[in-house]
This record gives sequence, C-alpha cells and structure tokens, in this order.
Amino acid sequence: TKPKVFVTRAVFPDVLERLSAHFDVECNQSDQIFSPGELLEKMRDVDGVFTTPSERVGAQEIAASPRLKAICNMAVGYNNIDLDAATKAGILVTNTPDVLNETTADFAWALLLAAARRVTESEHWLRAGEWKKWRFDTFLGADIHGATLGILGMGRIGQAIARRSMGFDMQVIYHNRSRLAPELEARANNARYVSKEALLREADHLVLVLPYSAASHHAIGAAELDLMKPTATLVNIARGGIVDDAALIAALKAGRIAAAGLDVFENEPAFNPDFLALSNVALTPHIASASEPTRRAMANCAADNLIAALSGAMPPNLLNPAARVAG
Ligand code: GLV
Ligand code: GLV
Repeated sequence: TKPKVFVTRAVFPDVLERLSAHFDVECNQSDQIFSPGELLEKMRDVDGVFTTPSERVGAQEIAASPRLKAICNMAVGYNNIDLDAATKAGILVTNTPDVLNETTADFAWALLLAAARRVTESEHWLRAGEWKKWRFDTFLGADIHGATLGILGMGRIGQAIARRSMGFDMQVIYHNRSRLAPELEARANNARYVSKEALLREADHLVLVLPYSAASHHAIGAAELDLMKPTATLVNIARGGIVDDAALIAALKAGRIAAAGLDVFENEPAFNPDFLALSNVALTPHIASASEPTRRAMANCAADNLIAALSGAMPPNLLNPAARVAG
C-alpha cells in the first residue's frame, strides 16, 4: 500500500496528481485554514504532511503523530514548525528556498514604491471620489532614486532586492549576522556592511528580509524605530513578529517614520486592526511570493521533497539532517 499523506490546503491540481501517483493523498478541500484540533486529527495516522505557513505544527502535533516521517512546508520560512521536536522524533522537515527569491524581491519593491509614493493610499482617495480636492501638494511622497536603501537580513532574497536598486541609482547598506563575501557585495550594488544602529540611522528606506526566530523577535521595536529618519519607509516582507506591530503603529501615527509597506503581521490572519485606521501604510495579505509561476514552483518543490523523504531518498531541501540519524 502507498504511504498516506495529508495536504493542508488544496494546492494546484496537477501537484496533487503528482502526489497521488506516489501516495494515498487526503487534502483539505475547504478554503478554511484548519484549526489546530483539526490538524492534529488529520496528522494522527499519516506518513507525511504537506503544510503551508498557515498551519502551526508544534510539539503537540508531532507527539500525536506516531507514523509521521516528513513535514514538507510550502514556504522558505519554517517558523510554523517546531524543528527541534521534529528532529528529536526523527521527522524530516523541508522548505522551498531559492525558487521564490526573485519573485519575492520584486514584491519588496512593489511595497516600497507603494508606501514611499503613497500608491495605495491615493487609490483609496480616488475611489472615494476625492479627486476634485487635488492640489499641487496632494500625496507628496519620498523619492526612491538616489536614496539610501537599507537591508536587514542579507540572504539570497536581500541580495536580489539590492541588485534591483542599481536602476534607481541608490546606495545600499546592510546588516546581517555575517558579512557577505566581497564579490557578493559587489553584485548587490556594492552593498556596504554596517552595524544595525547605523543601518537604522542612515537608511532612507529599510527592507526587512530576515527569518523569524526567537533571536529576531521584535528586532524592530520602539527603540529601533526611534533611530530611523522621520522621512523613512519601512518594508516587511519577511515574517510577522520581527516587527513589534504595536510600536510600529505608534510610530506611524506619530510620524516618527513616514510610511510602511507590510506583507506580514503578528498573529496573521488576525492582525492588529489599528493598521486599518492608518493612511501611511500599504498593506498586503502575505503574497510576496505569489506569482503564478513561483507558487507553482514552490508547490512542486514541496512535492519533490515529500516524494524523496518518503521513498528514503535525500530530500533536496532537508532542514534537519540530524533527524535521519534520530529516525
Ligand atoms: C512565505 O512567507 C515563505 O516563507 O515562503
Ligand atoms: C504631470 O502630470 C505633469 O504633466 O507634470
């Protein structure tokens, strides 16, 4: 008999078909995110699970799933999965890196341009029939070209964002756990490594691209926002929780920074409603990697990993090699 897998969201039909050639597939066909209780129930007797960042697979889910051998997350980020608990239980965990780098970098620019040049804010005004109130100083924004772009977290997506800044004649500064090799800095529009404090002080536009972990929790809070220029734009395409949302709301309200572009929030999808009352923020619902080809590539990548993991092969994007020993 084929191994059993559970797919937490109805992904592309051709990807489900690929999985069905290898596995006995059960899939959540509803458009509802599974509650933790439902997920626990579904995971109880499967060999593998295909997840998205909407599902939290914690120690409890792992402990309740004795057959489970693989958790394949359709995302580059995997903070929704308790990696330590999975490793101890001998469960392989995989993500989908690289296939989304360029698409996600594109979207960082979409949000940066939207926030700094007030694109979504002015569209709301237009739709509300306010155009007759237009003045020469309606929706004055900040320039992108010639400005200093700051990047916090300089992995592959950060570097793809930096490369795109060449066309805007920008200076790039970055902070990261470790400094890039000189040839990578050169390719990233001659990005200059600076301290986190210098990054916050000097950036005209700051993009957050670091993974979420206990170490990056509230990496941007009230103290960090205070260091930023009052004219600065903050963009978060990484994860909710990296920014202290309450502190950001206070800063946007008080004009301590000019604008923000946010694709991710604390407690998604139930984010802080105070954002909705602010005009100087462009808001999107966690779609930075959502181009048609890239979401297909991510789904197929997660499927490749699941197929490899449950056939005893090395999954291409294994996050916890130690699990193979534990298992
Ligand atoms: C999306 O947020 C991802 O981590 O891929
Ligand atoms: C703007 O519409 C201009 O003509 O300058």
